[in-house]
Amino acid sequence: MGKEMIGELELNRIYQRDCIEGMRMLPDNSVDLLLTDPPYTMPTITAFGRKKVRNVADLSIQETYMKALKVEFERVLKPNSPIFIFCDDNYYTSIFRAFYDWNHTQMIVWDKNKIGMGKPFRKRHELIFYANRESIDYHRSEGLTHYPTVLNYKPVGQERVHGAQKPVDLVSDIIRGFSMNGDIVLDCFMGSGTTAVASKELARNFVGFELNSDFIELANQRLEAIERGSSLKEASHDE
Ligand SMILES: C[S@@+](CC[C@H](N)C(=O)[O-])C[C@H]1O[C@@H](n2cnc3c(N)ncnc32)[C@H](O)[C@@H]1O
Repeated sequence: MGKEMIGELELNRIYQRDCIEGMRMLPDNSVDLLLTDPPYTMPTITAFGRKKVRNVADLSIQETYMKALKVEFERVLKPNSPIFIFCDDNYYTSIFRAFYDWNHTQMIVWDKNKIGMGKPFRKRHELIFYANRESIDYHRSEGLTHYPTVLNYKPVGQERVHGAQKPVDLVSDIIRGFSMNGDIVLDCFMGSGTTAVASKELARNFVGFELNSDFIELANQRLEAIERGSSLKEASHDE
Protein backbone atom coordinates (compact mmCIF):
# COMPACT_ATOMS: atom_id res chain seq x y z
CA MET A 1 0.00 0.00 0.00
CA GLY A 2 1.31 3.48 -0.86
CA LYS A 3 2.14 6.02 1.78
CA GLU A 4 -0.58 8.42 2.78
CA MET A 5 0.28 11.97 1.82
CA ILE A 6 -0.68 15.45 2.87
CA GLY A 7 0.24 17.58 -0.12
CA GLU A 8 3.91 16.94 -0.84
CA LEU A 9 4.60 15.46 2.59
CA GLU A 10 4.05 12.01 4.02
CA LEU A 11 1.59 11.66 6.85
CA ASN A 12 2.82 10.23 10.14
CA ARG A 13 6.31 11.64 9.75
CA ILE A 14 8.29 14.31 11.53
CA TYR A 15 10.29 16.43 9.13
CA GLN A 16 13.51 18.16 10.04
CA ARG A 17 12.51 21.61 8.89
CA ASP A 18 11.74 25.05 10.15
CA CYS A 19 8.03 24.87 10.90
CA ILE A 20 6.98 27.88 8.83
CA GLU A 21 8.81 26.51 5.79
CA GLY A 22 7.34 23.08 6.53
CA MET A 23 3.79 24.34 6.86
CA ARG A 24 4.14 26.08 3.49
CA MET A 25 4.31 22.58 1.99
CA LEU A 26 0.95 21.57 3.45
CA PRO A 27 -2.22 22.07 1.41
CA ASP A 28 -4.89 24.61 2.31
CA ASN A 29 -7.67 23.43 4.56
CA SER A 30 -6.12 20.08 5.36
CA VAL A 31 -5.48 19.91 9.12
CA ASP A 32 -8.12 18.94 11.70
CA LEU A 33 -6.33 19.88 14.92
CA LEU A 34 -3.25 21.89 15.81
CA LEU A 35 -1.57 20.99 19.08
CA THR A 36 1.83 22.53 19.52
CA ASP A 37 4.41 23.56 22.06
CA PRO A 38 6.77 26.30 20.88
CA PRO A 39 9.86 27.18 22.91
CA TYR A 40 8.33 29.91 25.06
CA THR A 41 11.15 32.41 24.73
CA MET A 42 12.60 31.40 21.38
CA PRO A 43 11.83 34.50 19.31
CA THR A 44 13.44 36.70 21.96
CA ILE A 45 16.47 34.49 22.25
CA THR A 46 16.90 34.52 18.50
CA ALA A 47 16.61 38.30 18.35
CA PHE A 48 18.58 39.31 21.43
CA GLY A 49 20.30 36.22 22.78
CA ARG A 50 18.33 36.71 26.01
CA LYS A 51 17.24 33.80 28.07
CA LYS A 52 14.22 35.60 29.48
CA VAL A 53 11.42 37.75 28.19
CA ARG A 54 12.27 41.04 29.89
CA ASN A 55 10.16 43.80 28.46
CA VAL A 56 7.42 44.85 26.12
CA ALA A 57 9.76 44.89 23.12
CA ASP A 58 10.49 41.23 23.77
CA LEU A 59 6.80 40.50 23.88
CA SER A 60 6.22 42.28 20.59
CA ILE A 61 8.82 40.03 18.99
CA GLN A 62 6.99 37.04 20.38
CA GLU A 63 3.77 38.45 18.95
CA THR A 64 5.30 39.11 15.53
CA TYR A 65 6.56 35.54 15.40
CA MET A 66 3.20 34.15 16.49
CA LYS A 67 1.49 36.21 13.78
CA ALA A 68 3.81 34.69 11.18
CA LEU A 69 2.86 31.22 12.41
CA LYS A 70 -0.78 32.21 12.41
CA VAL A 71 -0.70 33.04 8.69
CA GLU A 72 0.15 29.42 7.99
CA PHE A 73 -2.20 28.05 10.66
CA GLU A 74 -5.10 29.91 9.07
CA ARG A 75 -4.23 28.53 5.65
CA VAL A 76 -3.64 24.87 6.56
CA LEU A 77 -6.35 24.44 9.20
CA LYS A 78 -9.95 23.69 8.34
CA PRO A 79 -12.09 26.70 9.30
CA ASN A 80 -13.41 25.22 12.53
CA SER A 81 -10.35 23.23 13.57
CA PRO A 82 -9.36 23.85 17.17
CA ILE A 83 -5.86 24.88 18.18
CA PHE A 84 -3.95 24.29 21.42
CA ILE A 85 -0.65 26.05 22.08
CA PHE A 86 1.36 25.41 25.24
CA CYS A 87 2.68 28.62 26.74
CA ASP A 88 3.56 30.44 29.93
CA ASP A 89 2.24 33.62 31.53
CA ASN A 90 4.41 35.89 29.35
CA TYR A 91 4.01 34.13 26.05
CA TYR A 92 0.28 33.81 26.62
CA THR A 93 -0.20 37.55 26.21
CA SER A 94 1.54 37.56 22.81
CA ILE A 95 -0.43 34.57 21.61
CA PHE A 96 -3.68 36.05 22.82
CA ARG A 97 -2.97 39.31 20.97
CA ALA A 98 -2.10 37.48 17.77
CA PHE A 99 -5.38 35.54 17.85
CA TYR A 100 -7.64 38.36 19.09
CA ASP A 101 -9.77 38.09 15.93
CA TRP A 102 -10.64 34.43 16.33
CA ASN A 103 -14.13 33.75 17.62
CA HIS A 104 -13.36 31.55 20.58
CA THR A 105 -10.32 31.79 22.82
CA GLN A 106 -9.75 30.34 26.26
CA MET A 107 -6.89 29.87 28.63
CA ILE A 108 -6.40 26.46 30.16
CA VAL A 109 -4.22 25.91 33.19
CA TRP A 110 -2.18 22.75 33.38
CA ASP A 111 -1.73 22.18 37.11
CA LYS A 112 1.30 19.95 37.58
CA ASN A 113 0.65 19.40 41.26
CA LYS A 114 4.36 19.88 41.74
CA ILE A 115 6.01 23.09 42.87
CA GLY A 116 8.79 24.43 40.66
CA MET A 117 10.97 27.55 40.83
CA GLY A 118 9.92 31.18 41.25
CA LYS A 119 9.80 34.10 43.68
CA PRO A 120 7.77 35.05 45.61
CA PHE A 121 5.43 32.41 44.20
CA ARG A 122 6.77 29.05 43.17
CA LYS A 123 5.26 28.01 39.93
CA ARG A 124 3.36 24.79 39.55
CA HIS A 125 1.46 25.37 36.33
CA GLU A 126 1.82 25.97 32.62
CA LEU A 127 -0.81 27.38 30.32
CA ILE A 128 -2.45 26.10 27.19
CA PHE A 129 -3.99 28.59 24.79
CA TYR A 130 -7.12 27.26 23.10
CA ALA A 131 -8.77 28.91 20.11
CA ASN A 132 -11.22 28.20 17.35
CA ARG A 133 -11.63 30.51 14.39
CA GLU A 134 -15.26 29.79 13.64
CA SER A 135 -17.32 27.82 16.05
CA ILE A 136 -17.03 25.31 18.84
CA ASP A 137 -19.39 23.09 16.91
CA TYR A 138 -16.68 20.85 15.49
CA HIS A 139 -16.63 17.10 15.52
CA ARG A 140 -15.40 15.46 18.67
CA SER A 141 -15.18 11.84 19.59
CA GLU A 142 -16.00 10.10 22.83
CA GLY A 143 -18.14 12.92 24.16
CA LEU A 144 -15.33 14.64 26.05
CA THR A 145 -17.13 17.93 26.00
CA HIS A 146 -16.97 19.13 29.54
CA TYR A 147 -13.36 19.81 30.29
CA PRO A 148 -12.62 22.05 33.24
CA THR A 149 -10.25 24.96 32.57
CA VAL A 150 -7.79 23.52 35.09
CA LEU A 151 -6.31 20.18 34.09
CA ASN A 152 -4.32 18.05 36.49
CA TYR A 153 -1.56 15.92 35.03
CA LYS A 154 1.74 14.91 36.53
CA PRO A 155 4.75 16.23 34.62
CA VAL A 156 6.98 13.70 32.91
CA GLY A 157 9.44 12.29 35.43
CA GLN A 158 12.95 10.90 35.20
CA GLU A 159 12.12 8.98 32.04
CA ARG A 160 11.87 12.22 30.07
CA VAL A 161 14.05 12.51 26.98
CA HIS A 162 13.40 16.21 26.22
CA GLY A 163 13.63 19.10 28.67
CA ALA A 164 10.19 20.38 27.69
CA GLN A 165 8.50 17.02 27.18
CA LYS A 166 4.77 17.09 27.86
CA PRO A 167 2.80 14.22 29.44
CA VAL A 168 1.34 11.82 26.90
CA ASP A 169 -1.85 11.56 28.95
CA LEU A 170 -2.49 15.29 28.78
CA VAL A 171 -1.82 15.48 25.05
CA SER A 172 -3.88 12.31 24.44
CA ASP A 173 -6.89 13.63 26.29
CA ILE A 174 -6.90 16.80 24.21
CA ILE A 175 -6.51 14.86 20.97
CA ARG A 176 -9.19 12.35 21.97
CA GLY A 177 -11.61 15.07 22.89
CA PHE A 178 -11.05 17.38 19.94
CA SER A 179 -10.60 15.10 16.93
CA MET A 180 -11.89 11.92 15.36
CA ASN A 181 -10.20 8.70 14.26
CA GLY A 182 -8.23 9.28 11.09
CA ASP A 183 -8.10 13.07 11.54
CA ILE A 184 -4.85 14.92 10.85
CA VAL A 185 -3.09 16.47 13.83
CA LEU A 186 -0.33 19.03 13.23
CA ASP A 187 2.44 19.80 15.71
CA CYS A 188 4.93 22.25 14.23
CA PHE A 189 7.32 22.07 17.23
CA MET A 190 7.47 18.33 17.80
CA GLY A 191 10.36 18.05 20.24
CA SER A 192 10.46 14.44 21.40
CA GLY A 193 7.25 13.69 19.51
CA THR A 194 4.64 13.53 22.28
CA THR A 195 1.92 14.71 19.90
CA ALA A 196 2.99 12.06 17.38
CA VAL A 197 2.98 9.34 20.04
CA ALA A 198 -0.48 10.29 21.32
CA SER A 199 -1.85 10.59 17.76
CA LYS A 200 -0.52 7.20 16.80
CA GLU A 201 -1.92 5.56 19.92
CA LEU A 202 -5.32 7.11 19.18
CA ALA A 203 -5.41 6.18 15.47
CA ARG A 204 -5.10 9.79 14.32
CA ASN A 205 -2.68 10.85 11.61
CA PHE A 206 0.00 13.37 12.39
CA VAL A 207 2.47 15.55 10.62
CA GLY A 208 5.14 17.57 12.32
CA PHE A 209 8.32 19.60 12.16
CA GLU A 210 11.35 19.77 14.40
CA LEU A 211 14.70 21.46 13.84
CA ASN A 212 16.83 19.18 15.98
CA SER A 213 17.66 15.80 14.43
CA ASP A 214 18.45 14.24 17.83
CA PHE A 215 14.91 14.96 18.99
CA ILE A 216 13.49 13.51 15.77
CA GLU A 217 15.51 10.37 16.40
CA LEU A 218 14.12 10.16 19.95
CA ALA A 219 10.59 10.74 18.67
CA ASN A 220 11.01 7.98 16.10
CA GLN A 221 12.22 5.62 18.82
CA ARG A 222 9.10 6.39 20.84
CA LEU A 223 6.93 5.75 17.78
CA GLU A 224 8.71 2.46 17.09
CA ALA A 225 8.10 1.42 20.70
CA ILE A 226 4.36 1.76 20.06
CA GLU A 227 4.68 -0.48 17.02
CA ARG A 228 6.44 -3.06 19.17
CA GLY A 229 3.61 -2.70 21.67
CA SER A 230 5.88 -1.38 24.36
CA SER A 231 4.77 2.21 24.52
CA LEU A 232 5.79 3.76 27.82
CA LYS A 233 3.08 5.67 29.59
CA GLU A 234 5.13 8.43 31.11
CA ALA A 235 2.59 10.26 33.13
CA SER A 236 -0.63 9.51 34.85
CA HIS A 237 -3.73 11.62 35.04
CA ASP A 238 -4.38 12.75 38.59
CA GLU A 239 -7.86 11.64 39.44
C1 LIG B 1 8.97 23.01 23.80
S1 LIG B 1 9.76 21.91 22.73
C2 LIG B 1 8.51 20.74 22.32
C3 LIG B 1 8.44 19.60 23.30
C4 LIG B 1 7.38 18.58 22.96
N1 LIG B 1 6.06 19.05 23.23
C5 LIG B 1 7.62 17.27 23.68
O1 LIG B 1 6.72 16.80 24.40
O2 LIG B 1 8.72 16.72 23.55
C6 LIG B 1 9.91 22.86 21.27
C7 LIG B 1 10.71 22.24 20.17
O3 LIG B 1 10.63 23.09 19.01
C8 LIG B 1 11.84 22.95 18.28
N2 LIG B 1 11.93 24.11 17.40
C9 LIG B 1 12.41 25.34 17.70
N3 LIG B 1 12.28 26.16 16.65
C10 LIG B 1 11.72 25.46 15.65
C11 LIG B 1 11.32 25.77 14.32
N4 LIG B 1 11.48 27.00 13.83
N5 LIG B 1 10.75 24.80 13.57
C12 LIG B 1 10.58 23.55 14.08
N6 LIG B 1 10.93 23.20 15.35
C13 LIG B 1 11.49 24.14 16.12
C14 LIG B 1 12.91 22.86 19.34
O4 LIG B 1 14.06 22.18 18.86
C15 LIG B 1 12.20 22.08 20.46
O5 LIG B 1 12.52 20.71 20.45
